[in-house]
Amino acid sequence: MTRTPLVAGNWKMNHTPTQAAAWCDALRAELAADELPEGIELGVAPAFPALPRVAAEIERGLPLTLIAQNAHRELSGAFTGEVSVPMLLDVGCRRVILGHSERRQLFGETDALIARKVRTAVDNHLPPILCIGETEQEREAGRTEVVLEQQLQRGLAEVAPEALDDLVVAYEPVWAIGTGRVATSDQVAAAHAFVRATYAAIAGADRAAGLRILYGGSVKPGNAAELAAIGDVDGFLVGGASLEAESFLAIARAMARTAPS
Ligand code: 13P
Repeated sequence: MTRTPLVAGNWKMNHTPTQAAAWCDALRAELAADELPEGIELGVAPAFPALPRVAAEIERGLPLTLIAQNAHRELSGAFTGEVSVPMLLDVGCRRVILGHSERRQLFGETDALIARKVRTAVDNHLPPILCIGETEQEREAGRTEVVLEQQLQRGLAEVAPEALDDLVVAYEPVWAIGTGRVATSDQVAAAHAFVRATYAAIAGADRAAGLRILYGGSVKPGNAAELAAIGDVDGFLVGGASLEAESFLAIARAMARTAPS
């Protein structure tokens, strides 16, 4: 089964709307000079205030999927400071990142809350990018697979497998995020194969064969080609290196070179 690679930038709490517009200009200029090959999806997850600016650039033809960094579990109500799935859809988002380790660690999100958010997103046609990944202590204790299996099973516990056709999973080892310590090819290959096998047990072999599994954690232009060559790596979720359009695109080009033509 062919899986269209997805390279998505997660800007986290960076880039004002003005900076986002400049990033889009830079991306457009780079693409005008040297177009991306067909068969790869590019995405970007700006902070909420920058979403409309990037949505306007997409309407003008910039080839990007607009992604939200988070969403609330409810559709509306008295939740000061929160943003709902219908709001994100209305502004042009077509995916939402859920379960990012920064949400889990810094904002106390549990697997149960993430499962609720996944259900709300799926039920309202905003497909999630579900992030899972072990901490350094968990890896050193030999618990990587247990953690990945739990986060995947629990995160998907409230949705039926047949509703999950557009799911994307991102494997992001916590110790590799923002540290410059990228996981080795062997570690990434083993984790991605394990995630696919685990997903097969949840949703069946056919869906697992079509599941896109992204790697995230210190992906840079210099290491993207080696990671992209791993069979079960279907793209990247890029933090720091996505803040500059040039390095984001260099990573996307490395991924595109491995795409089935
Ligand atoms: P870095 O690429 O900065 O390590 O961040 C990865 C990440 O958290 C993407 O969601």
